[in-house]
Amino acid sequence: MTIDDAVYACARLVADARHIVVMTGAGVSAESGIPTFRDALTGLWAHYDPEQLATPEAFNASPALVTRWYDERRAACAHCEPNPGHRALSELQRRLRSDGRKLQLITQNVDRLHQRAGASDVIELHGSLWDWRCTRCGEQHEENEVPFPEYPPRCHCGGSRRPAVVWFGESLPAAAVRAAWATVQSCDLFLSIGTSGQVQPAASLLHEARGAGAKTVEINPRPTSQSGIVDLALRGPSGVLLPRVLEVLGSG
Ligand code: OAD
Repeated sequence: MTIDDAVYACARLVADARHIVVMTGAGVSAESGIPTFRDALTGLWAHYDPEQLATPEAFNASPALVTRWYDERRAACAHCEPNPGHRALSELQRRLRSDGRKLQLITQNVDRLHQRAGASDVIELHGSLWDWRCTRCGEQHEENEVPFPEYPPRCHCGGSRRPAVVWFGESLPAAAVRAAWATVQSCDLFLSIGTSGQVQPAASLLHEARGAGAKTVEINPRPTSQSGIVDLALRGPSGVLLPRVLEVLGSG
């Protein structure tokens, strides 16, 4: 199948669906200049050992180092803009809604670029770089000013604050998990975009969707561990392919 055939096939599936779930990973933000986790050379984890930075143990041992690293990622995200892939998804969500249909976004990304592109009701499975929580009193706030004046940032109660992201060895936010698993049970189309599908339990959502009878599509420049089981694979960057799907839908 040529890439044009795949784009048309994807547009047909979208046109026929009533409830679409879109699961995104770091690849959807790559064209905004945010490095992915696992891509050789450019991935964040190629430069840092995640065991040293993205764990509760690392934070307890070096709270200043860990919070500074996250604050630098937060500052870098503040200078990035949503790309045409993010914008195509929020436009599709808007169009489906006005048509009495639904597009539910679930993301593993912590950058909030879907929301900045206008998407609503995004389920954040791995938390967000923009929310920070006190490790003493538990109070959590959105923090849009960058950078923090000190590391670790302090709560008014005197406690240290940490990013409300999911670290290795931690559970996903319960409400996000409940919402994600519930919506997948009733979807008829599941799109997996820009994720290597290597991190559980997020990766199992595609299997849940298949089990519930949904068609499945992958958009990724490279094959992943999930490529063998999807109904349709589009090989290429989401910032190019999603606008093309939208264009085909628009022309009818
Ligand atoms: P990965 O870095 O594992 O995978 C990124 C995927 O995006 C790869 O399959 C790339 O081929 C693909 N990709 C690269 N450029 C792309 C583009 N322009 N368009 C579409 N796809 C592109 O990132 P995730 O799968 O998101 O968790 O990683 C999952 C989780 O692992 C992250 O949320 C993070 C990490 O540990 C936590 O921090 C809890």
